[in-house]
Amino acid sequence: MAVSFAPSSANVLFFTLFAASVLVGLVDSAKFDQYFEASWAQDHLEYDGEQLNLKLDTYSGAGFASKSKYLFGKTTVQIKLVEGDSAGTVTAFYMSSDGPKHNEFDFEFLGNTTGEPYLVQTNVYVNGVGNREERLSLWFDPTKEFHSYSIFWNQRQVVFLVDETPIRVFVNKEKEGLAFPKDQAMGVYSSIWNADDWATQGGRVKTDWTHAPFVASYKGFEINGCECPTETAAEENTNRCSSGERKYWWDQPMLSELNLHQNHQLIWVRNHHLIYDYCTDSTRFPVAPLECGHSRH
Ligand SMILES: *[C@@H]1O[C@H](CO)[C@@H](O)[C@H](O)[C@H]1NC(C)=O
Repeated sequence: MAVSFAPSSANVLFFTLFAASVLVGLVDSAKFDQYFEASWAQDHLEYDGEQLNLKLDTYSGAGFASKSKYLFGKTTVQIKLVEGDSAGTVTAFYMSSDGPKHNEFDFEFLGNTTGEPYLVQTNVYVNGVGNREERLSLWFDPTKEFHSYSIFWNQRQVVFLVDETPIRVFVNKEKEGLAFPKDQAMGVYSSIWNADDWATQGGRVKTDWTHAPFVASYKGFEINGCECPTETAAEENTNRCSSGERKYWWDQPMLSELNLHQNHQLIWVRNHHLIYDYCTDSTRFPVAPLECGHSRH
């Protein structure tokens, strides 16, 4: 069904509700098993019907995956990260397609010793190529309460959000000849694992296994996207999910870029919390990657 956007009052209301839910995050959250299932070490995953815990110990980490794949939309989970000593651990929440030319949008939460701050690393892979790391500190302690982490994705942008505040935007620059991830359906994933060779203070601080198990907790699972059944041909899914008819809420013109308020939030985050940006790393990239635009001074 195509929705016309003549400004009838019903449409205005509908649109306002969507805008409110997108911006304020009022979308009702669902139960874990509505969208997800265990994907790694089922015995290290506990679910009580409300809250899900992923455990890392000397035997194994753990993970879960969406049952379906999606093209565009928004996914959110609320996470309470490992409390106390989490050094050496990484908890990840990400979307990814399959295969060597896959696309991927990553949140990686890098643990730390007790009392030292977590870092959030984000990365974007396009056609199998990543190397687009950014690192931020947070404006709260992510181990004390649940906070929401979201990936919003449409044909114009990929936005990483923390409690609905945008922390990173990957903009479609196809007009400038750069590839943008828009034709591979992606699953939604999360996992916790040991990465003490690099995660904490550059790998200098190792996991202290006397503090295991390391537990990350989840609730408020939400996926609001165009579902791509595996039995349907990829091309058919692409056509259905990226029709130009604006039949999906994430294709509304106002969501083709951040609004003014979100732009201010993004600037605030980057001024106060950005720790590392591949775009400004001239040791790694003597010539700034093309998508970095004018961000290197
Ligand atoms: C851990 O804490 C140290 C000291 O405060 C800090 O330099 C580092 O960025 C923090 N995060 C990680 C992941 O190393």
